[in-house]
Amino acid sequence: MKPKVTVVGSGNVGAECARRLLQSNLCNVVLIDIVEGLPQGKALDMLQSCAIEGYAGTIIGTNNYEDTKDSQIVVITAGLARKPGMSRDDLLHKNETIVKGIVEQIAKYSPNAILLLVTNPLDVMTYLSYKASKFPTNRVLGMAPLLDQSRMEAFIAMELNVPITDVSAMVIATHGDAMVPLPRLSTVKGKPVTELLSKEKIDAIVARTANGGAEIVNLLKTGSAYYAPAASAAHMAIAMLKDSKERISSCVYLDGQYGEKDIYLGTLAKLGKNGVEEIVEIKLTPEEETAFHAAAAKVRADNQKLGYTK
Ligand code: LAC
Repeated sequence: MKPKVTVVGSGNVGAECARRLLQSNLCNVVLIDIVEGLPQGKALDMLQSCAIEGYAGTIIGTNNYEDTKDSQIVVITAGLARKPGMSRDDLLHKNETIVKGIVEQIAKYSPNAILLLVTNPLDVMTYLSYKASKFPTNRVLGMAPLLDQSRMEAFIAMELNVPITDVSAMVIATHGDAMVPLPRLSTVKGKPVTELLSKEKIDAIVARTANGGAEIVNLLKTGSAYYAPAASAAHMAIAMLKDSKERISSCVYLDGQYGEKDIYLGTLAKLGKNGVEEIVEIKLTPEEETAFHAAAAKVRADNQKLGYTK
């Protein structure tokens, strides 16, 4: 039998992620939401698309956590999204209540699951899920550094007019305004962008990357980005389903890496069937280190607002 993957939240990110997982043919998908009819309707629609596109997957939509029982991976996308003018941190308390309730249900029905967080503010919600689930840290991780990296890759490709697949970028620390893009380690076919672009151009790309989510919120006006966020979450889930051991930028629990402890932040991690199987610490310059600690201080201050910190 294929493993079960649950996607919590059938909004744009959740539905798009569920569709990608369904098309992977690697898992049976459960789409769950509190809104009656929405996950059921979207799941039926997706199942019918399988007949046309030739995917043999199964998907159900539900409002009942019993249907999520024994999930191998649970992707949590539920919660409020930003509106224009809002920062991700403005969502903290509303999404805290939503995510905590979800994690308690998941921990009850799927005590061995890997939790993959997408809800914002991402680093804080991932920490909250770790605390609320009491799962080991390798089984709780967050999505967004891969998304931020994809944005930086897109902007570099646009600037240099090269295929986006030739670009490899690196963004670490937090999925917030204090994120730390690393141009020094961002390359086009192995050549650092610092050798390809002026400082002004790089600074502009770094700023646009940090503002990448808000740029789309302001364009859409009614919600936030979902194609790249869903692609990122699905890519990570698929790496774990395949036990690929791929190194993917992820939001992971730091226990001394970068001199930080008891906090979830972004860095490279090896993902496999056990979730986070290795954390890769990148050697930073003093300037990058300062930026990393500034991001950590911001995330830690928000974690403390949750009342979960030891
Ligand atoms: C974004 C949201 C998902 O960055 O945080 O688009």
